[in-house]
Amino acid sequence: SILIIDFGSQVTQLIARRIREAGVYSEIVPFNAAAEAFERMQPKGVIFSGGPSSVMWEDAPSAPQIAFDSGVPLLGICYGQQTLHQQLGGKVVASDQKEFGRAYVEVKAPSALFDGLWQVGETHQVWMSHGDRVETLAPGFDVVATSEGAPFAIATNEDAKRFTVMFHPEVVHTPDGGKLLANFARHICGCAGDWTMASFRDAKIAEIREQVGSGRVICGLSGGVDSAVAAVLIHEAIGEQLTCVFVDHGLMRLGEAEQVVSLFRGSYNIPLVHVDASADFLGGLEGVTDPEAKRKFIGAEFINVFEAEAKKIGGADFLAQGTLYPDVIESVSFTGGPSVTIKSHHNVGGLPERMNMKLVEPLRELFKDEVRELGRELGLPEAFVDRHPFPGPGLAIRIPGEVTKERCDILRKADAIYLEEIRNAGLYDAIWQAFAVLLPVRTVGVMGDYRTYDSVCALRAVTSVDGMTADTYPFAPEFLSRVATRIVNEVAGINRVVYDYTSKPPGTIEWE
Ligand code: XMP
Repeated sequence: SILIIDFGSQVTQLIARRIREAGVYSEIVPFNAAAEAFERMQPKGVIFSGGPSSVMWEDAPSAPQIAFDSGVPLLGICYGQQTLHQQLGGKVVASDQKEFGRAYVEVKAPSALFDGLWQVGETHQVWMSHGDRVETLAPGFDVVATSEGAPFAIATNEDAKRFTVMFHPEVVHTPDGGKLLANFARHICGCAGDWTMASFRDAKIAEIREQVGSGRVICGLSGGVDSAVAAVLIHEAIGEQLTCVFVDHGLMRLGEAEQVVSLFRGSYNIPLVHVDASADFLGGLEGVTDPEAKRKFIGAEFINVFEAEAKKIGGADFLAQGTLYPDVIESVSFTGGPSVTIKSHHNVGGLPERMNMKLVEPLRELFKDEVRELGRELGLPEAFVDRHPFPGPGLAIRIPGEVTKERCDILRKADAIYLEEIRNAGLYDAIWQAFAVLLPVRTVGVMGDYRTYDSVCALRAVTSVDGMTADTYPFAPEFLSRVATRIVNEVAGINRVVYDYTSKPPGTIEWE
């Protein structure tokens, strides 16, 4: 296994992800807990992450001595590179030549780090992000690659198997970065590369059993992939100690609620409480048109309903959530200052404190596509696992203006037609998220010699890697015409269809 010592970089989890992709088990441990973790794991190699600190600060974080004394191979990235040199007797200074973003390194000498990958004399793109720089390398280190702003872009001590890079190999903007990390884990550290999602499943099951003991766990299902995968995994670990509660707010897509219920009760035989709270939600949304007011009401009502149901079944010691890594990093980011609330994202936040429960979050380290892979591993149907993300507040934020049952029904039909056409055209997997929006605008049309005066439906489809930025999906005009014709012909209440061509930023993916 590989131990990743976290010095607080925003992208530390990406290191773990790349190591997983190389088929090697790794654990991320904060720098101040790394010594114990080393004793426990006996890793075959250690990676020092980047981080926002400066090694020149008085109590700058450092790596535990045991990492050096053990003699296992080491890889220092950015801040990790600086502390590695400093701890081994090199010198780091503040630099006036800062390098951020894309840079090119020129390979000056061979190294085990890029053996079989990069040759001397070649130039390769990397992603730099650093302020300080190493002025004097630690004894035994030599430069093997340079960049314009970084004479020590890669410096290594080949005999001691210690490698330091000033750039981030873990991000996609370092195109060969994944291969460099795989080289380190497999060839330099000698890890086997046979670790898979099946191993992850087994390890997590053991971890959940240990955490939960004989306690009771309650899991709120949203209808989405993340909470479903978390629930199935936890059920595998602790069986009947788990109860799932599915709060149906009446704002789901067509057939979605039925799908969730039949999957859990039918295929998996997992105890499921299905609460049809649509009347409460729709009642409470009456007259509400402000997007934030909708979101806040739905979030609060969700907690009320969930809490009441939890009480009915006798409470629980733990609350399970399908929290993913991108959800975690935004809330714990250690460099980011206070950020502006664009939208109040809805999840079951607030519940654990209110109900005095501990959290079980088995997906915290994973990215969306890895959760999907785990879902497949657990036998969830493909059509369920590969579904596009769906926001907690559901259709309410896809109906600008007042939300009514009638408008939800209209939107559900249009949305289902749009998605059916996308699937038929084989485009579903190429798109991150596609959905219809029902606008509070009526326009005039003509249908079979009659005048119509009905609502406008907007179609949205975007590509994205993580939902943080997004690009409009460029459908062929014939495709959009076909969808528009079908929606206007088949859905009463809609007589005009438009396509949303806004990227994010400046738009957001959802309309509210
Ligand atoms: P925006 O609209 O902010 O959406 O560009 C980015 C991604 O997040 C989803 N989204 C939500 N997911 N609860 C969720 O679980 C929410 O309240 C929520 N709001 C937006 C959105 O569908 C997109 O994938």
